[in-house]
Amino acid sequence: MPWRETSYLLGREPNCIGRARNWATFHPVAAVLLSILGLLLVVTVVVVPTEWVEISGGTPPACSKGGVAAVMSGPSRGTGEAEPFLSIFSGDAKHGELIAATKKYELLPQAWRDFEVVPDVNFGTPEPRWKSVAVVDSSATRLFMFGGLTGTAYPADVWTMAPDEDGNAIWSFVEFEGSAAVAPGRKAAAAVNIGGTMLVFGGKWCEISKKGKEKHCKELGDLWTLDLESLSTWEKLWEFAEGSSSPDTGGPSPRHGHSATVATIEDEQGRVTDYMVVFAGRADAGYYNDVWAWNTRARKWEDWTPGSAHPTPAKRDHHHVASPQGKRMVLFGGRGDPDTEKHQHKNSNVLGDLWEFDYKKRKWEAIQPSAGRKPSARFLADFAEHEETLLVFGGDEESGKGGRLDDLWQLNLTTYAWTELHQGLRC
Ligand SMILES: *[C@@H]1O[C@H](CO)[C@@H](O)[C@H](O)[C@H]1NC(C)=O
Repeated sequence: MPWRETSYLLGREPNCIGRARNWATFHPVAAVLLSILGLLLVVTVVVVPTEWVEISGGTPPACSKGGVAAVMSGPSRGTGEAEPFLSIFSGDAKHGELIAATKKYELLPQAWRDFEVVPDVNFGTPEPRWKSVAVVDSSATRLFMFGGLTGTAYPADVWTMAPDEDGNAIWSFVEFEGSAAVAPGRKAAAAVNIGGTMLVFGGKWCEISKKGKEKHCKELGDLWTLDLESLSTWEKLWEFAEGSSSPDTGGPSPRHGHSATVATIEDEQGRVTDYMVVFAGRADAGYYNDVWAWNTRARKWEDWTPGSAHPTPAKRDHHHVASPQGKRMVLFGGRGDPDTEKHQHKNSNVLGDLWEFDYKKRKWEAIQPSAGRKPSARFLADFAEHEETLLVFGGDEESGKGGRLDDLWQLNLTTYAWTELHQGLRC
């Protein structure tokens, strides 16, 4: 549908518009093609006027990485009915240049829509940031965001976002009583919602100097929980203690850039237990590829890392995961697989592989995607799960230099076929 492409071209962030225009000016063939596209646009509008509603939507986020994404349910601008949409907040558009926007992609018409932001009366909107974490409630009508890095601070703040009946995004700041426990601020933690509580594990915290440089950084190995109904106090459930390697006290070592998913396992007696499954990540010593599961019933960690004789994905951080029906973890990409044991971060690679981890068998299996186009290898994309699919927006395809993206992909977790929902421009 060429008209749709054209509308996105015109709706780019300012720096992208400039580039697209130059491109057309200096390429006569492109200019001719654009003219044909324009003609098709006119024909489409005249012949199929009802289609016009579709393209009056919003603009996609700029090329970026490290924003938060979630699939929510809210009134559609098109129909007014509750429909699923992907919401994306903030992210890093250029080194240190953070996006303030809250964006919306409606999954049924498959179109970006304007998402007017309604600020909190007293606290406004959350400061732009990256590497924060977010979960949604069980009805997917409210998002809860925690922490991240604003560029000058690691706020330990919690915000909620919910669409109103007009489909606007209402942000609210969560105020805690002075006496309440609060999880310390951090970036690149991982979080899940289990039974109406947000569980957050690990991350990284640094002092920020007057010049804005990070120093005295600390990898975190603590596990916190926050009840999403009362939103009254955080509770620390566990913290890694050096030398605590016994099966009863052990757990994942301090790290950031790991992932968290929910495993739901029924035992022989028919008893169902939910686990927070933590995979991979990185600390000063290097990258990890271990699997740990927090048993919410027994309140302790179980080491689910398969033995070395079994196939295992390369060590990594900032990868993308889904957990269809709590039965298996699906893994896409990330950054890691270092070429050397020393200086692992400097010698890391950007990954585009697919894996599946069976929670019951506790085994990994490498997956080949179905034939067809697939996304480039990348890390730190904004990702979310929706009805047995994994949605992936943007991210970075270059380790080090920064090759941010703005394309949107959907992976069918049954067939492992990729669909490109929105073709990005390189920015
Ligand atoms: C995924 O593929 C299956 C099998 O072809 C299909 O039934 C299902 O609708 C697909 N899901 C999506 C979201 O396209």
